[in-house]
Parts: sequence; C-alpha cells; structure tokens
Amino acid sequence: MKLVSVNKLEPGMVVSENIYTLDDRLVLTKGTVLDSNGIEKIKAHSLYNIFVENEKKPVAASTEKKEKVDPNLSYSQRLKNTESFIRFKQHIEENAEKLEESFRLIANESVPLDVDKLTEPVYHLFVEAGGSAGVFDMLHNLRDSSDAVYMHSLNVSLICNTLATWMRLPTETIQIATAGGLLHDIGKVLMPPDLVNKTEALTEYEQKAMREHVIKGYDLVKNMDIDQRIKNCILMHHEMRDGSGYPFHIKNDQIDEVASIVTVANVYEALTATRTYRAPVCPFTIIANFEDNGIDKYSPNVIMTFLSNVVNTFIANRVLLNNGQSGDIIFVNPDHLSRPTIKVGDQFVDLSQNRNLSIVSII
Ligand SMILES: [Fe+2]
Repeated sequence: MKLVSVNKLEPGMVVSENIYTLDDRLVLTKGTVLDSNGIEKIKAHSLYNIFVENEKKPVAASTEKKEKVDPNLSYSQRLKNTESFIRFKQHIEENAEKLEESFRLIANESVPLDVDKLTEPVYHLFVEAGGSAGVFDMLHNLRDSSDAVYMHSLNVSLICNTLATWMRLPTETIQIATAGGLLHDIGKVLMPPDLVNKTEALTEYEQKAMREHVIKGYDLVKNMDIDQRIKNCILMHHEMRDGSGYPFHIKNDQIDEVASIVTVANVYEALTATRTYRAPVCPFTIIANFEDNGIDKYSPNVIMTFLSNVVNTFIANRVLLNNGQSGDIIFVNPDHLSRPTIKVGDQFVDLSQNRNLSIVSII
C-alpha cells in the first residue's frame, strides 16, 4: 500500500481504503480499480492524497478508449459509453424479468420465498456498479429505461442497500433493508395487470385501488418464515411520519425504521423514473422538496443521511440551469444541498447566492 497524490493517480490503480470526503461522505470503496471517471470524482472532491495498492490492475481497455473519443462529453455521456455501464444496464434488465417470474411463482405458492436467493442478484449488481459510490451513477443514467414494477424493485433495493450503508447500519440490517426494498411491491403481482401496467396517469379511483397492493403483499407473506422487518417494509412503505400515508396512517416510531429506508428510496426512485405521461423529475427538485418538507414526513435520520450523500453523487455531473446555461457541479454546499456551485465556462456560479437560478436537469 502506498500514499499517492491525487494529481499522480493513474487508471488501473486500486484503492486500498474507503475514500471519504472531509465531511465523512463515501466517495469510492476499497478495492475500486480506478478509471478516468473515478479519478475525476476524487479530484472533484478536492482530496489531496489517497492510499492505493502497490500493484495496478487492468482497466477495461474499451472503457478508456471510448472515454478519450471526445473530452467535451459530459460525465453522464461518457459514463453511458463505458463497458461497465452497458453491462450493468443489460444485467439489471435481465434480472428485472427474472424477478417478475420469481414473484409470480411465490404468489402462486409454487416456490417458497427464499430471501437469500432472491436478493443475490442485487449484490452482484451492487458490486458491478462499483459499490455504494457507483450505484447512483448507474441509476441516474438508467432513467430513460423501462418503468416496469420489477426494474423499480431492483432499483429501490440497490438504493436501500446504499442508504443503509451510508447510515452505517449493521450488516444484518443492511441485508434486511436490501430485501425489504426488493420485496416492498410484491403485492403488485396480485393486482389486476391492466392497472399495474397502465401507461397513462391513474385516475383517483384507480389510485385508491392501487393502494391495496400493500395489504395484498402483506397478506401474501405474513405467515412466511421471513424476518418481520421485511414484512413491515411491504406493509409500511407508503406510511408517512405525519400520518398522511397509508394504509393505517400510523405515525413516527410506529413505522418500522427499515420500512422508513424503503419509503425514501421508493419516493426518490419513482419520481426520478420516466413515465409515459411525464418526464422524470430532476433530482435537485426532489432534493429541494425533501429539504423543505421531508423532516415531517420521513425519518429524520434516514432523510438527512440520504440527502447529504445523494447530492454528493452528482459532483462532476453536468447540469442544465433554468437560464439555458450548462456547467459542471464542483462543490456541494452542506447548508443548501439542492443549490451547489456550478462551473459555467470560466465562471463559478454559487446557486445558494443566486436564488433566481436553479438546476433543471442533469445532462
Ligand atoms: Fe408501493
């Protein structure tokens, strides 16, 4: 292991300790093989030195080659060209199909619910994405993909795993959150397919009918031999701490803490997804809403950990502002998480000081 200046990092170097920002947020995990995206992330966090292994490992040649084609491409455009992203996208789509089949077999009582077996692909996807530091990079760039229930379940599970890791929960609790995220909408296999697969916005009547998925899901698993917290995730993932959720309008600590993790992951995932009847909501709009209204509705520990870390995952991303200009996020202000500093050309635009400006989308 050796200490290397950030300016001397090279693709192929292997990170030998988790890398945290000065305010203790995870940037890259131990064992990550650096490529130019990873190096850019470390530089963007203004870190000086990091520990790497003595031996380098090969980086996928095609990844680096494609990234060098056009240095003017945004972070997102470059990521989408990488072999690792293309592979991740293919695998998550394949696993979404398999998950649908598994849920149906469980609902028909053809096979027992084996939580370890069901969540195994999530852990593979997690590693393939580059751990908790890479999951959001992947998910942010999958947003024009399918909005099927099963893709949503996989995404929520990956977010729950990452969020529980950020919260530094015990490994066993992280596993329960991952399983809870994967299974939270299992009740949808028991709902009329026309309703679940409807591509237009649901009517008020249909929305009410759809709410039954939590009770149907809970009824399906309540006598099964799985952890009660996973059952609670299925039953309580639409409950809100101010009592405005459903099905029982329970409040505060009546809501399982692990279910609270699924709630935040579920809302964020659903809003950032593309729907046929609406474009995805910009993550910074969601972060601003969470900052303004989140404390009443969500577990304070869960929402604060989520916000402060998720913003971090956008460092080095290019964004479009409401004045038509675009630039790269270079600094996140911990007091105004939805208003980072953007480098537009040679100018630094601090959105916390320019309240008339806001981020419209990640490009
Ligand atoms: Fe749900």
